[in-house]
Parts: sequence; C-alpha cells; structure tokens
Amino acid sequence: MTKVAPSILASDFAKLGEEIKDVENGGADYIHIDVMDGHFVPNITIGPLIVDSIRPITDLPLDVHLMIENPDQYIEAFAKAGSDIITVHQEACPHLHRTIQLIKSYGVKAGVVINPATPAELIRPILKDVDLVLLMTVNPGFGGQSFIHSVVPKISQIDKWRKEEGLTFEIEVDGGVKAQTARLCTEAGADVLVAGSAIFNQEDRKEAIDAIRQ
Ligand code: DX5
Ligand code: ZN
Repeated sequence: MTKVAPSILASDFAKLGEEIKDVENGGADYIHIDVMDGHFVPNITIGPLIVDSIRPITDLPLDVHLMIENPDQYIEAFAKAGSDIITVHQEACPHLHRTIQLIKSYGVKAGVVINPATPAELIRPILKDVDLVLLMTVNPGFGGQSFIHSVVPKISQIDKWRKEEGLTFEIEVDGGVKAQTARLCTEAGADVLVAGSAIFNQEDRKEAIDAIRQ
C-alpha cells in the first residue's frame, strides 16, 4: 500500500504535538520533517532540537529532509535526535557516497533527494547504496507550491532502474502532492507521498490522508 508522509511544515507549530498525534491517528506512515537553512533554500525552519522533542511523542518513523548546505556537519546531531531516515540533496553533496555512508554509520536509513531540474542520471551511481530516493516535485523552500508535472517521467525512470538492478529502495515524492497529483506519482512508481498543505489545511486529517492514498 502507498505510504503517506505528512510534512509538518504546514502544521500549526504552536500545537505541534497535537498535530502529529492527529495525523498519526489519521493513518500517516512517516512524519516528514523539512529542515531548511536559509542558504541551500531561501527559508529557515527547524533544527535537531525539534526532532528531539518530537521523538518521544510518536512511534512513526521520522523522515528528515535536509535542505541545507554542508549536511555532513549536522548528520550526527539529527541522527542522535532520533531521525529514522535522513535524506540529503545530491546538489548539496560533492562527496555523496561519503555522506550516505556517514548517515548509515549512525544506524539511520539514508536517502538521496534531487530537485526538479536535476537529471535522474546524476544519482544512478548511488542507487545501490540508498534506502530511499526522494524526487522533488516543486523547488524546495516552501509549502503550498504547484506540482511540476515534468518530474513524473523521472519517477518512472528511477522505478525502471530499480527493477532492472533488483534494488529495494523506496521512491518518495515531495511537493504539490494532493489527491489528483498523487495518482500520477503512484502510477509512475512512487511508494511514499509527502504532503503538507493537502493534509494540514484540511479539518479532517484522516479523510485528507485517505484521499491522497487512493
Ligand atoms: C518543500 C518541502 C515539502 C513541503 C511540501 O520544500 O520539502 O516537504 O512541505 O508541502 P506541500 O505538500 O504543501 O507542497
Ligand atoms: Zn520535504
């Protein structure tokens, strides 16, 4: 079954604990945490301290999406704060293989992310080393943007390589995912759908999650 990962970026941070419980009760599979540094992306969000506070309130895997420069410098802190999955951008990692191994050295699942304009070929050599591939369907930095349709063939391409090479990583998509766009992604081979505004802007989170999963 398709997994849904609500992005807390769109939640009410004044009651973050309740918001997380609400999506957990609504059937969320992962909690997606968007970390932005004001350099790699033009926005600043949250750090390891928040991951540490969230950790005791949910058993769901914490899927930590690092949109930061020099991720190697912060991987230890995010791992120790309780991340289950850490994803790093190919565009921010000149030594990608080393960074992926660093994440794994803490016993955390490692994922690689690419922006909409980055060709899939650039991550082909690392596919056998990752637990997850995250394809951005918006330019990272903000919630509530429109889905970029030209990324869909890239989902199929990664899925094709996964099958050909007998690999088992998950394919996740992030940005502008709502019921209509979710379908395009799952049909192309996505396993995990990140959604922020399409879940947290709805009163009934279970209904919103179900609509995306369909
Ligand atoms: C964008 C973030 C996304 C974002 C998704 O930079 O990585 O996770 O929160 O938000 P929506 O679903 O509203 O596009
Ligand atoms: Zn994200």
